[in-house]
Amino acid sequence: MKLLIIRTIAVALFSLSFLSDFTRAQSGTFDISTFGGKPNGDITQAFLSAWKEACASTAAAKITIPSGRYSMNAVDVKGPCKAPIEIQVDGTIQAPANPDDMKGAEQWIKISYAESITLSGQGIFDGQGANAWKINDCDSNKNCKMLCMNFGLLFLNNSIVRDITSKDSKNFHVLVLGCNNLTFDGFKVDAPEESLNTDGIHIGRSTEIKILNTVIGTGDDCVSLGDGSKQITVQNVKCGPGHGISVGSLGRYPNEEPVEGFYVKNCTLTDTQNGVRIKTWPNSPSTSPISDMHFEDITMNNVSNPVIIDQEYCPWNQCSKQNPSKIQISKVSFKNIKGTSGTPDGVVLTCSSGVPCEGVELGNIDLTFNGAKATAKCSNVKPTLTGTAPACAAN
Ligand SMILES: *[C@@H]1O[C@H](CO)[C@@H](O)[C@H](O)[C@H]1NC(C)=O
Ligand SMILES: *[C@@H]1O[C@H](CO)[C@@H](O)[C@H](O)[C@H]1NC(C)=O
Ligand SMILES: *[C@@H]1O[C@H](CO)[C@@H](O)[C@H](O)[C@H]1NC(C)=O
Ligand SMILES: *[C@@H]1O[C@H](CO)[C@@H](O)[C@H](O)[C@H]1NC(C)=O
Repeated sequence: MKLLIIRTIAVALFSLSFLSDFTRAQSGTFDISTFGGKPNGDITQAFLSAWKEACASTAAAKITIPSGRYSMNAVDVKGPCKAPIEIQVDGTIQAPANPDDMKGAEQWIKISYAESITLSGQGIFDGQGANAWKINDCDSNKNCKMLCMNFGLLFLNNSIVRDITSKDSKNFHVLVLGCNNLTFDGFKVDAPEESLNTDGIHIGRSTEIKILNTVIGTGDDCVSLGDGSKQITVQNVKCGPGHGISVGSLGRYPNEEPVEGFYVKNCTLTDTQNGVRIKTWPNSPSTSPISDMHFEDITMNNVSNPVIIDQEYCPWNQCSKQNPSKIQISKVSFKNIKGTSGTPDGVVLTCSSGVPCEGVELGNIDLTFNGAKATAKCSNVKPTLTGTAPACAAN
């Protein structure tokens, strides 16, 4: 009898603790306040603790950062985690304004080696980059100090970034590297035109990345593709101010991987330096090709260089143009491109004299400069013209 009671109690206690674990795992919400994260305070430690518990949770977990203002230093969180994690941020989180306070981190918020991560909410991640832009000399100094990016999304699979805003990053807003199936939807990037090197989303060595319904205003490329980018879709995106939507620059370094499959559709560029562009360095140590680049239904509003292929990209004379680029560009289409150019040349295709571009199509290009039809200049390429498109003059 006594034994039975003890056993019953033991079983009851066991079930109770199992039940409470179970409830916690089921509800799976980890609010930052549970870990000591309060508005107007620093939430660095609270975020790291919340991630640790969420990542160990066997049921889908959610970390919440409610509305309010918070400060946070660099965080570096890694998977693998036991179940999907959503980080829902509705507050405004600020990074240290002084670049020296970032502890040498390459990214302020670094999330890596995980899958099924969702970053969502109406929150703003404010990199407070104004001081950093002033000391940035990376355009002229090869050994410049590496400034901290807002986000590093590295080696993530099947993940989503929804609605949040990246503001005033010190360097790139988002670096996507080594990811598979990552979608940005309703994402926003907000930085002034004069903020240096603040690419909106830079993608490298990644497959199946989608950028949808996103608004990017920044001081450098809105979206840029580095080597090894494959099957990338950019759709319903507004870009401006900024330097446009770019492939490259490629061919500066050895051992680059091919870039293939870029689908840019229904995008509007406003007051940007460039529209859609592919750029490679001359004298390239790498030969990996660029293929299947398709730009369609694009509106240009006062874009200085709306459509460009530049295989002699060499800013600040950091290279020699004597040897042509060895990167072959093929299967490229520009279709239904309309609006206003800020310069007389709406289309400039400067392909490599070593490996001319192949399979380039210009279809229904309707660009004007000061009311007159913008012209096209081409070298080392014979584009197929369909619909109304300007014939190429020699470049
Ligand atoms: C992501 O997917 C790749 C390819 O399927 C796999 O090798 C890798 O382990 C996955 N990464 C994670 C963090 O699950
Ligand atoms: C891509 O990721 C999303 C979000 O996790 C998921 O719903 C979808 O099934 C994934 N697609 C593939 C092909 O795995
Ligand atoms: C094109 O993109 C805009 C947002 O920039 C969106 O409002 C519109 O619905 C899109 N059109 C189509 C046909 O997807
Ligand atoms: C055209 O864009 C440039 C920036 O590239 C800007 O300075 C200028 O004010 C714009 N012009 C108009 C008419 O909006």
